[in-house]
Formats: sequence, C-alpha cells, structure tokens
Amino acid sequence: MCGIFGYLGSKNSIKACLTGLKLLEYRGYDSAGIAAIKKGRLIQFKASGKIKALEKKINMKDLKLNLAIGHTRWATHGPAIEKNAHPHLDEKNSVAIVHNGIIENYNILKKSFKLKQTKFRSETDSEVIAQLFSINYKNDLVLATIETLKQLKGSLAIVAIHKDHPNEIIAAKRESPLAIGYDDKKTEFIISSDPNAFSGRNLNVIFLKNDEIAHIKNGDITVIDLKNNKILKTPQKLNSKNLTFSKKGFDHYLLKEIFDQPITVQKAFIDRLTENDEIEFENFNLDKKFLKSIDNIIITACGTSYHASLIAKTFLQEKAKIFISSEIASEMRFKNLIFTKNTLVIAISQSGETADTVAALKTAKENNAKTLAIVNVQNSTISRMCDSSIFLKAGLEVSVCSTKAFSSQITVLYLFAIYLARLKNMKKKESTSFLNELKTIPRKIKKTLKDFDLIHEKAKKYSQYENFFFLGRNLMYPTAMEAALKLKEISYLNANAYPAGEMKHGPLALIDSKLIVIAFCANKKTYDKMLSNLMEAKARNAQILAFATKKSYGIEDIADDVIWLEETSDELAIFPSTVASQLFAYFIAKIRKTDIDHPRNLAKTVTVE
Ligand code: F6R
Repeated sequence: MCGIFGYLGSKNSIKACLTGLKLLEYRGYDSAGIAAIKKGRLIQFKASGKIKALEKKINMKDLKLNLAIGHTRWATHGPAIEKNAHPHLDEKNSVAIVHNGIIENYNILKKSFKLKQTKFRSETDSEVIAQLFSINYKNDLVLATIETLKQLKGSLAIVAIHKDHPNEIIAAKRESPLAIGYDDKKTEFIISSDPNAFSGRNLNVIFLKNDEIAHIKNGDITVIDLKNNKILKTPQKLNSKNLTFSKKGFDHYLLKEIFDQPITVQKAFIDRLTENDEIEFENFNLDKKFLKSIDNIIITACGTSYHASLIAKTFLQEKAKIFISSEIASEMRFKNLIFTKNTLVIAISQSGETADTVAALKTAKENNAKTLAIVNVQNSTISRMCDSSIFLKAGLEVSVCSTKAFSSQITVLYLFAIYLARLKNMKKKESTSFLNELKTIPRKIKKTLKDFDLIHEKAKKYSQYENFFFLGRNLMYPTAMEAALKLKEISYLNANAYPAGEMKHGPLALIDSKLIVIAFCANKKTYDKMLSNLMEAKARNAQILAFATKKSYGIEDIADDVIWLEETSDELAIFPSTVASQLFAYFIAKIRKTDIDHPRNLAKTVTVE
C-alpha cells in the first residue's frame, strides 16, 4: 500500500510533498516521511501517525529546496514506528528511497554476500532497496536502478534521490502504480502513486509500465527499460479537478457520505435512463454482438465491493439467464476458472487501484476474457486496464469505510443487468416496474435517514455488547455481510454474518443472552423462513434487533427492537436496509470513540496483495 510522492521543480519541494502526501493519505496513515537534499547532504523528517504529525516536525525556514520525496505508510513489514517510516537511506546516507509494494526476497537479499555486512536501521523490506542501490551505484543513477531492479522480486513503485545529483530524480515501477506529471514548460515534475495528488493541475501525465524507469534531469524526462533502451512515451493531458475535502458540517466524512446517498444513487442512474427508459452508458465500448453472445460472467472484487458483486450476481443471473460467478479477487488467480471466448469479467472497485482486483484482472486478460470495470475513480489502474468502464459518479469517498460507493455499485450493476438482459432476451416492459421503483429509491433512502435519532437510540442500547451475529437470507445475506463489515471496521467489534438458515448447522452453539442478533428481514421471499430462524435464536436467549419493512407482520413479537423501513421489492430492499445499518454502525463507533474516518490498521486503497 502506501502513497509515494516526488517533486522536482521551481516551487518549494517540501511544501509540494506535504500537499501531495495529504492527498495520498487514504493509502495509509501509519507513518509519514520526507527526504530532500540540502547543501549536498540528504536531510529527512519522519513521524509515526498521520501527515499532520510530520508537518509539525518540519520548520519550513531555510527549506526552500527544489527536490524532495515523500511517503505515507501502511505498515507491512515492521510496526508503525518512526524507524520504519520511509524514506529509507543507505548506510552511507547517500541515497534516499520511498517505496510502495512488497519486496518478496528482502530476507534473502539481506543475508546475501552483497548485503550481509550492511547495518540495517529498520525492520522493513523497503530498506533493502536503498542499501542495494547504494552498492550498485557507480556514478550513474540509471544503471544503479537497472541493476537494483534486476535483483528485486515482488511489487514496487519507487522514487529515489541521490545526494550527488541534486537536480535529478528517479522513478521506477513493477506492479504497484506510478504516475508522472509535468507542466507544458517542464518547470515542475511530480511523481505520485496516483493522479489524485495532481489535484487542480493541468499536467501532461505518463503512466509507467512494469520495469520502466523514469529519469528526470535538466528539465526533461527519459523513460528507459531494463536493457537501458529508451522508450517513447506519449503523455496524456490530465486536467485534474481540485480535490476539495469538506465534511459539509457533519462530524465525520463517514456520516456525510451516508447522507450523500440519495443524490449519489440518483446520479448513478439518472442520466443513463432516457425518457423511454432506454439504458445508455457513456463511452461504453463493449460490442453489442459480444454482449449478446456472453455465456458466463465472472464478477471479481474485494471487501465491500465484493458484497456488491454477490448482490449483482443473483440479480444478473435471474435477469440475463446466464451463469454468473462472484470471486473474491485475492483468490481468483489461484483457481482454475473456466473462461470461454464469450466470458465477460467484471471488476468492481471504488478506488480502481486495489492490488488484488488488479491481479484478478490480469488472470482474466491472460485468458483473453473481455473486461468491464465498475469503478468510482476515473483514470484509475482498473479503469485503464479494462476494455470498458462504467463509472459510479459517487464523487470522492474520503472515509476509509465505504458507504456511498456500495449503494452506487448496486445501482450501476442493476442497470447493467437490465441492459444486458434486454440485449439477450428480456422484453422492455418486463423491466418497467423495476426501473420505476428504482427511481423512488433516493426518496426512500431520504426517509431512512430521517430515522437518525431512533437508530441512534438503538445504537446506545447495543453499543456495550461485544458479539454480534448479522443474519439474512437471499439478498439480505450479502446485505448482512456488508452491515457486519461496517460494524467490525469502525467499532472493532466481533460481528459475523451468516445466512440465517445456516445457524442450526453450527453457529447456534455461540448464542447466549450476551449475543446480539441483527436480523435483516426485508426480503419477502424468505420472510417466513427468516422468522423461524429468529425464533430458534430467541429460544436460546439471543437479543434481536430487526430491520424490517413497515408491512412485515409478526416480527415485533419476536425481536426486542425493530427499525422499520420503507416498503420495497426484494431486489431494492438492499438500499434502506443498508443505509439504516450504516447509521447503526456509525453511532456505535461514535459511542465507542473510535477514529471513525481512519479506523486502525486500515487504508482506503489497498495496493498490496
Ligand atoms: C470496507 C472497504 C473495503 C473496500 C475494499 C475494496 O468499508 O472499504 O472493504 O471495499 O478494500 O476496495 P475497492 O472498492 O477500492 O477496490
């Protein structure tokens, strides 16, 4: 994971790094650091914790420098303490590097002939890069980089500077993403883990490919491969909008983003439905002939996006009447899945950068499958990798815990399912009532949000408990999985999701009066069976909080508390149920005083496998 940043140019490089790192902080916030060259020597600043802590340690006086590199860390090797913070320097303090990725052979290298005498200062895998680079350096930065890359195994994006080259910067990439931006006059060069950190600038942007090295020197950039051959790169113009962070008066980004949903869900469908309810996706370039011929779809994603894939799978299969599988991205490439010439692989990702999803997509491409990205962030790695993309239009999601992206993913996937089903076999009028009801969802989400105080009260009642079972059946099972993940993630409580019918096959043994069952009852198809399962839990003294629609009968006799939701069809029940459960998790976290927007041990974008 981690965010890396480098600056060479006419402005204050340390300030530029701090600004850039703040925009990359969602990639990890365990520690941060900056290195620069001052009067022929490397200087560095490091702090554990967030960029704010680093900022406090830097006295900007006398620091008007043109070159600097920076890093914001999500710890992989070694705890989140200052000595493990990047940049890492070699023994001689001549080279400084920042790294995103994992060096898989770092232990072997440390014990190798070249490095066995070296005194390492950190417990990280990354330091090995700086020490190797230093040994390989013979007055030529590029040759030292080539040699170093050849010895490293694993994933990396690195930026390096050397004390004897105060006007040069090196960047290299293998698997982990890296973008380089520069202005038309080439007075400023910015290297970043992703274009987010180019916020508000109009730049020429180059995305490095695997084992490409960029050397920036004398106001110019050269890209070289591992054989030291020059590679011609055509930059693309990127007019990046200013990323503005505002909680808009809410206490947390998470709460703001939960409240964004009536609008973000609407944005996901409104301009894609014509007056006659035709579905049109912007810049969609998957050929209709191919779409008609699709005989199976593999959907792949991680975390919350994976939960969206489970819901999409059921809906798509039912509507398009083809076989759909949903694969956890980190597992996909280790399975021998069956790809035909008519397989479509859909990758779902808020960030568009998740390393596991990127790896799953590579498997899809190796098998010649056509690929479709359902992503929020434009220009992200996943959207660039796929044959076509449909964007969520949910706007920036700042809180690490994903909320509005999830509801937009479901909306987009539902639209895509109808689009595909119509191409295949479905009569347009068969989808009319579904689409009409979809249009009412923003209003129903608004109504759910109005139950803010009531949900807060219920959260107070249950916030002192440690163990939760989230139960659902049919589409309410992935809904329960997503709700449990929210509670785990921001409250650090033990929340496990089960299909309610599975309880009797084992988990029931855990039930006692201290266990809280959160029951998702908004699916009519499975409602009666759900009630029976809840009775079984109640008979064993579980306390039950149910999320049920207003027309449900009988639930109030079983559950200790009920949060009443707007009436919807089974497919659309996911929206009110999810929004109510997001609020519930938020309030529990607030009562338990956790760092809601930056939960411990996590990062918004997960760029290691
Ligand atoms: C949970 C959460 C994560 C992400 C997962 C995938 O709230 O945010 O589980 O959903 O890391 O991230 P994306 O969607 O960016 O690929």
